[in-house]
Amino acid sequence: MVIPQTHRAVFALAMVLKTIHAIDNGLALTPQMGWNTWNTFACNINEDTILGAAKALKKLKLDEYGYHYVVMDDCWSLHQRNATGYLQYDPVKFPKGIKHLADEIHAMGLGFGMYSSAGKYTCGRYPGSLAFEEKDADLFAEWEVDYLKYDNCFNDGQSGTPLISFERYEVMSKALNRTGRPILYSMCNWGEDSPWDWAPTIANSWRMSGDIINVFDRYDDRCPCEDYICRLPGHHCSIMNIINKAAPLGQKAHAGAWNDLDMLEVGNENLDYEEQKLHFTIWAMVKSPLIMGHDITHTSDQALEILTNKDIIDLSQGKWGIGYRSYKKTNSQLWLQDATDNSGNMVIALINNGEKDDEFTIGFEDIFLDEWERRKAGYKVKDLWTKDDLGVIEKKIKIKVKRHGIFVGRMEFAGDPKIKPRAKKFHADPDEL
Ligand SMILES: *[C@@H]1O[C@H](CO)[C@@H](O)[C@H](O)[C@H]1NC(C)=O
Ligand SMILES: *[C@@H]1O[C@H](CO)[C@@H](O)[C@H](O)[C@H]1NC(C)=O
Repeated sequence: MVIPQTHRAVFALAMVLKTIHAIDNGLALTPQMGWNTWNTFACNINEDTILGAAKALKKLKLDEYGYHYVVMDDCWSLHQRNATGYLQYDPVKFPKGIKHLADEIHAMGLGFGMYSSAGKYTCGRYPGSLAFEEKDADLFAEWEVDYLKYDNCFNDGQSGTPLISFERYEVMSKALNRTGRPILYSMCNWGEDSPWDWAPTIANSWRMSGDIINVFDRYDDRCPCEDYICRLPGHHCSIMNIINKAAPLGQKAHAGAWNDLDMLEVGNENLDYEEQKLHFTIWAMVKSPLIMGHDITHTSDQALEILTNKDIIDLSQGKWGIGYRSYKKTNSQLWLQDATDNSGNMVIALINNGEKDDEFTIGFEDIFLDEWERRKAGYKVKDLWTKDDLGVIEKKIKIKVKRHGIFVGRMEFAGDPKIKPRAKKFHADPDEL
């Protein structure tokens, strides 16, 4: 068959577009899920704590809900590289070595995550990978690592513009690719230099803010920014602080390339039941990686109920676009998610960040933003936390939401299918551009 010249050009262009819009390692086509050592153990990790966590994850059957990666964070190595410049694992913490640990985790059907920093040192002052990217990537591949969390500490001033940061993180992306082993590349540069603009072509996910803390909402000078453009990302960022920064950024993410709102605080102390449900829901809707951080060997029934809500996990892993915010008022926010299956279905989520239980009315004009026809249809609504069927609703919906809580409703088109209004999408997929 002879392809006409013009068609050939278009075809070639399409192939180029397809390969340049995302890192091409075939991973994180839906946001990655798993568990990370840091929030429970910090530097006190060893083979037993990590395998204990992996076993707990299996015992709770969390893998069946999608939680796949067991990620070892900082403090696994010795303070010196060896004579030929390779990282060395701490033989006291890992008497049988890292490859053995990876083998054990693989034998459970799980993926194994590793940690380093795009700096001279890691955040815990162990050797970082800056200027050693190829050696470190080769070693990680030899150990059969499946995932790299790559931090930003001690970067020797190699930040300050998007291009400087991009080039520093790109080196590891290429080094990982060169190993031939698909390794999920999870960038952790805290939103510095707007990674959503340049990370999608080199990484599977990028942190978009300073580190999370298990506080619902507060100002904290350690996390001074209220906005996503931020000179000092910091740490101790509250749940609402991160949500507010993340709201406009969904448009920059797509399959294989996600905004990372940081690890989950579900199951940790201090957040109440309502706050944890709100936190988990928004992380799922905006398609952040869902990486647990609690002491998984002591998972409460309540935390397990939240982490295994299949309807909410479906917002992350299923056929839904990336969630976006319709409005932000003093005490409430409305978030939306469009189905990607042409059903015209929607998810609506009302955050009550005020200090009392309250009643809210959501008008269809705030749900179907630019879609005048769709406002006229009726929708069957199911509450995805209580599982209550709320019947068919038209024009507006009235709901009660607890203090610091969230209402999440899945809206199914319930009009005459013959006159079903066409659904428009808030964000276009890169594949459709
Ligand atoms: C490396 O990159 C190429 C080109 O983007 C891609 O086709 C290949 O699958 C990648 N390999 C790995 C192991 O990520
Ligand atoms: C340094 O570590 C690497 C990777 O484990 C190993 O292949 C190499 O032999 C080590 N070099 C020395 C001098 O021990």
